[in-house]
Amino acid sequence: MMREGTAPLIRREDYLAPAYWIRRADLCFDLDATKTIVSSKLTIERNTTQDVQPLKLHGEDLNLLRVLVDGHSVSFRQEGALLIIDAPAADAFTLEIRNTVSPEKNTQLSGLYASGGGLYTQCEAEGFRRITFFQDRPDVMAVYTVTLRGDKKKYPVLLSNGNLVEQGELDAGRHYAKWHDPFPKPSYLFAIVAANLVAREQWVRTRSGKDHLLQIFVKRGDLDKTEHAMNSLIASIVWDEARFKLPLDLERFMIVAVDDFNMGAMENKGLNLFNTKFVLASTATATDVDFDGIESVVAHEYFHNWTGNRITCRDWFQLSLKEGLTVFRDQEFSMDMAGSASARAVRRIGDVRTLRERQFPEDGGPMAHPVRPDVYQAIDNFYTATVYEKGAELVRMMHTLVGREGFAAGMGLYFERHDGQAVTCDEFAQAMADANPHSALAQHLDVFKRWYAQAGTPRLVAHGESDAESGRYTLRLSQSNTPSAGQPYKQPNLLPIAIGLLDRNGQPLQLQLEGEDAPAGTERVLVMTEAEQSFTFIGLPTADVVPSLLRGFSAPVLLKDGLSDADLLVLMAHDTDAFNRWEAAQRLGVNALRAALTHDDTPVLDAAFVEALRTLLRDPSLDPAFKELALTLPSEIYVADLVENIDPQRLHAAREAMLDQLASALQADWAWAFEHYQVRGGYLPNAEQSGQRALTNLALAMLVRHAVASGDNVWPGRAYQRFKDASNMTDRLGAIEALVNAHAELATPALERMHALFKDEALVLDKWFALQGRAAERGGKVFARIKQLMQHPDFTLGNPNRARALLFSLTAMNPAAFHRTDAAGYVFWADRVIELDAINPQLASRFARGLDRWRNLAEPYRSAAREAIARVAAKPELSGDTREIIDRALQ
Ligand code: PHE
Ligand code: ZN
Repeated sequence: MMREGTAPLIRREDYLAPAYWIRRADLCFDLDATKTIVSSKLTIERNTTQDVQPLKLHGEDLNLLRVLVDGHSVSFRQEGALLIIDAPAADAFTLEIRNTVSPEKNTQLSGLYASGGGLYTQCEAEGFRRITFFQDRPDVMAVYTVTLRGDKKKYPVLLSNGNLVEQGELDAGRHYAKWHDPFPKPSYLFAIVAANLVAREQWVRTRSGKDHLLQIFVKRGDLDKTEHAMNSLIASIVWDEARFKLPLDLERFMIVAVDDFNMGAMENKGLNLFNTKFVLASTATATDVDFDGIESVVAHEYFHNWTGNRITCRDWFQLSLKEGLTVFRDQEFSMDMAGSASARAVRRIGDVRTLRERQFPEDGGPMAHPVRPDVYQAIDNFYTATVYEKGAELVRMMHTLVGREGFAAGMGLYFERHDGQAVTCDEFAQAMADANPHSALAQHLDVFKRWYAQAGTPRLVAHGESDAESGRYTLRLSQSNTPSAGQPYKQPNLLPIAIGLLDRNGQPLQLQLEGEDAPAGTERVLVMTEAEQSFTFIGLPTADVVPSLLRGFSAPVLLKDGLSDADLLVLMAHDTDAFNRWEAAQRLGVNALRAALTHDDTPVLDAAFVEALRTLLRDPSLDPAFKELALTLPSEIYVADLVENIDPQRLHAAREAMLDQLASALQADWAWAFEHYQVRGGYLPNAEQSGQRALTNLALAMLVRHAVASGDNVWPGRAYQRFKDASNMTDRLGAIEALVNAHAELATPALERMHALFKDEALVLDKWFALQGRAAERGGKVFARIKQLMQHPDFTLGNPNRARALLFSLTAMNPAAFHRTDAAGYVFWADRVIELDAINPQLASRFARGLDRWRNLAEPYRSAAREAIARVAAKPELSGDTREIIDRALQ
């Protein structure tokens, strides 16, 4: 086993091109769960731009059988995880290697592993070296030919990347398949599957008139749950061709669903591997959120075929080159699929919520790193919200700066220049700028690129001043960024700031900047590039101006604009920008929670805010999806990131009290909304219906909460009935969560019933665990239940989805159950980190991040958390992945 204490630091500035190129890889697998034999024949050329160097191949957990160069034995040595041939004779040669691996012993789920009787691979980022010896780095691109041999009964389906060129029978009940992928690719995009699966198939014709075969492979019995994934795939193909002129370039595009998977899905060339969670859906088993997740993950992986596979990353520091861009693309796709302007705004709000709840805390904690990191120990730890979500915001800012057409042109130039190459983030930004030479992006490209280099969330302070007499309004802006590891000083960023100005009645004002001849509409984008800048608007009819800044969250910053609650109420009621309307409501909620944390009196929402929420809920012109978002108070996770010295128990108590107040004050309105927004007609997982279901579920939760608090049985009874009779999982889960979160008596029978009904549906059992893991804490009951559920026969740490369902729900979503004054949550966390680390380091190191923000906690939490982290740190046998997280946390 390769488990060592401290891994060396890998630095971006140390990048060197490889000493050898591997042009072709001919691989043959004799498949067996206990012992698979891998025979590899590599066509290698020396990189003649460099001096002659030893050939160094990565290998991890491999059993080496033989090494031949040009058919002859050769002297080699093994040094740690490297196989070194000191003096390969020629500049071009073939290297033959034979080794074995044991898939069934591979609990890390990286490399070749067994799951449910089948064999699967996961190679990103550095899993290929766990299959065979290779220069396992993304700038080494080879053409692969792969022969798979295995038992026909166990493994009737044998898949690899590219096209099937041959298949047939072998002796002893075995068969084989030979695959060839014509596209040179890095090893992280390699994949094989050998399993007993069936496929949903669909032929599609792209614009060029070519026919392509789409296949989704699942276990027998799951075929009827693949329709939505197939529809999402087809929609993604159509969209990428329409919006970016990027067609499907493969004869065959395969998706394979697997139960045991560390991440969401993987974009292996032509053979995407998916966590079943992001493939399988039926009305009875999947919620609207699941349907949405499938649509966006299928799209994301499909879009990688161009942004990631056709153009890949030169090194792993450039990960956001493919991930940030591809997240941006899947976000845009989902917005286009959602349709109406309001549905787009709802999606944007969702994306910003994720960014602020996951990426902002990351950027303020020990794992803060730039979108393009400078240094890492374990690359697995850098598949982060920063690389993905903040990376996508960078691309979105470019999009804002160059416009939709300009962005498409930039993408065009990027592919014209770099198709088939492994490049850096700089190349992308340069192509975007070069395609838009007159844009602010091109004018300030160096300033913009600081976004890639600097960690931390910039703070933007805005201060507006009106002059009644001259009709001028001056907006003074200043930006700053706090120091982070290795970056004591930060330079100003380029901030695109979308803005509108409203009068006191909420009417939008015409915007004319000083120096301009005429007003140019009621919204515009200011471009800030310096630490301090002022913008003066002229010709305003009033001095009582309410600014609406950062519309659509046009830059990923923390905004401090000093608006009063009265100003926020104007925005909440009238802003034409739906995002800022929602944001105003959130900020009023944050203000109330902050006040509750600093004063000792019973926390309350003020009457004007409650009335504004009522008005919004009753407004016939607003979509239910938007209402649901606006009527949801800011989460404890989000607020905890905005406040220093946080006491999670107090925050939870304050928020719960406010929810009680909203439940009671709006009781009649919730009852009205519950009836009014019922979906009538059959289930469709579209934006319109899912908005209705989200709002009725929120209403039901409020109604049950209020009823339980006032000792009334009617609404809990109705919720239970709805849980029993629901025709879809969204309503069923909504009803049971209403009962569980309110600690209603009927929660217990509902949980029992749900388990009995779905005991054979792994993905529903995950929900069953997760809803208990994130249940609203009351008196320690939830935490006690979570500990108890660890002993449940259906619980296992071996399956990542199941482990996440219970454990990550606690640490990532349930602060009040996790952060206890008796430190029991931290003790539990430390034990699980250690336990999980021995099984699956990648999963363990993610779980270990649950205490990232310990320094932000108030006492006694802070000291207790530190102690728990130190206890984990003291374990000498920790994996490199987890070691990096724990060491950073203590730094
Ligand atoms: N590259 C995958 C994606 O973003 C994520 C992934 C990373 C999957 C590493 C597995 C391992 O779609
Ligand atoms: Zn991705």
